[in-house]
Amino acid sequence: MPIPKAELHLHIEGTLEPELAFRLAARNGVTLPFDSVEDLRAAYSFGDLQSFLDLYYALTDVLRTEQDFTDLAEAYLARAQADGVRHAEIFFDPQAHTSRGIAFDTVARGLLAALDRSQDKYGVSTSLILSFLRDQSAESALETLAAAEPFLDRIIAVGLDSAEVGHPPSKFAAVYERARALGLRAVAHAGEEGPPDYIREALDVLGVERIDHGVRCLEDQELVDRLVRERIPLTVCPFSNVRLRVVDTLDKHPLRRMLDAGLVVTVNSDDPAYFGGYVHENLTATATAIGLTDDQIHTLARNSFEAAFLDDETRATYLAELDAHR
Ligand code: ADE
Ligand code: ZN
Repeated sequence: MPIPKAELHLHIEGTLEPELAFRLAARNGVTLPFDSVEDLRAAYSFGDLQSFLDLYYALTDVLRTEQDFTDLAEAYLARAQADGVRHAEIFFDPQAHTSRGIAFDTVARGLLAALDRSQDKYGVSTSLILSFLRDQSAESALETLAAAEPFLDRIIAVGLDSAEVGHPPSKFAAVYERARALGLRAVAHAGEEGPPDYIREALDVLGVERIDHGVRCLEDQELVDRLVRERIPLTVCPFSNVRLRVVDTLDKHPLRRMLDAGLVVTVNSDDPAYFGGYVHENLTATATAIGLTDDQIHTLARNSFEAAFLDDETRATYLAELDAHR
């Protein structure tokens, strides 16, 4: 049985497997610019973040109805259960859909139909993280947050993703302030392709409680010292870092250096359909490639529950289950 864990950095759109993409395309009368599942899978070779995002957004075209979003989330939750995931905080990118004429409510209702039965059906507790596309305008982010208001009981936090360089966190100060006023927590992608200063800005200007990726913090010792001192969790995604060329090869991934530095790191899958594996494989393959001890693997799982937006009682339950797993 895989070690119990929380997954905190997972884009639901990034769980769209080629087989499901073709099934939804057929159901919705959409023609994909690929001849077959194999042809599509062969396109999963990326030079950088943008080349991945181009395919990721193109494939969202098959997601049209509530049922499509439900099917997408169901497939992830079944996979997560098999991977030992007990709790998942799931990013969704509403603007990737509203910009195509799909209503926010269609996306949210579809995802929540699956998420609301996830605890009973899969033993996985869930919440949503509303992620703004940083390469769209600050006004568009504010409109997206307004559209989300009827669903705030199931949205735990706001996040920031998409093309990082040239779109610093400070661009979204107003929408994060509004989100906080609405009672939402805050995270942001920073220091994936962007510089260490974007991590600082996310902390100082947006007030985020976790940093997604954050691997480039290692270029700035003062920043590392601060992240350690303030115990800011970093949701690291090793397969993603290799596939998007943030890191050359898995055996060169800095995860162990990050652990040794005292950083609160967690392991996550980011966009598992595109990057070659789900969260447990990210953990085990990385552990093998860089030589992590069982204690370090346990620490990563512990960090995932400690970094999660859970109430104290639920967190304690998960941590007890983790300790019993040894
Ligand atoms: N959207 C989906 N995956 C992402 C990533 N790794 N970085 C930025 N935006 C994303
Ligand atoms: Zn991500």
